[in-house]
Amino acid sequence: MMRQPPIQPAIRVIQQEHDLLSAIIRGMEYFVQIIDEGGKAPDAKVFRAMLLYISDYPDRVHHPKEDNYLFARLHQRTDKVDDVLSHLESEHQRGDQMVFELQHALARLEFHGMKTFPDFRALVQRYAQFYNGHMRLEEDVVLPAALQFLTAADWDDINAAFQANDNPLAGTDDKEDLQKLFSLIANIAPPPVGVGPEA
Ligand SMILES: [Fe+2]
Ligand SMILES: [Fe+2]
Repeated sequence: MMRQPPIQPAIRVIQQEHDLLSAIIRGMEYFVQIIDEGGKAPDAKVFRAMLLYISDYPDRVHHPKEDNYLFARLHQRTDKVDDVLSHLESEHQRGDQMVFELQHALARLEFHGMKTFPDFRALVQRYAQFYNGHMRLEEDVVLPAALQFLTAADWDDINAAFQANDNPLAGTDDKEDLQKLFSLIANIAPPPVGVGPEA
């Protein structure tokens, strides 16, 4: 993935949010890997915490800001990236659906046991691939196009929107809950995967 210099605050926020999400996804893959290698299965609560974070934050805050500000403004300024944008917009919908499927697969794993693990593992792998590809497309195609086509006034609006949630743990009523969620996730994950509010 090619990283744009964060010359606009919104770009820095997007990159930080992508980093947090990547850390969560690595945590999911690690969870699956432990079980796959016959290790003691981590508490399912941790995986549920990861899914909760994804549905509460990226799915509810990050994607709508991309759709409503960054993508919307880019649609107005150029039609060069229309195909990529509509692909990404439909992936935002698809992402919500996949979180639901993961919740279901996890519940099946808890209730029906290891015979359902291959399905769960496949879904986690598919989700990781899906989301990593999604973020790469945004950073490699959309951000460079935004830097090329958007005006200073566009950036003012987009920066304001994204800075309103610069730090996922700041200024939300759920601050304590999110903090708890992150420490739960960080506790099972190995050092490179561990994430925290300061990450
Ligand atoms: Fe996105
Ligand atoms: Fe994104």
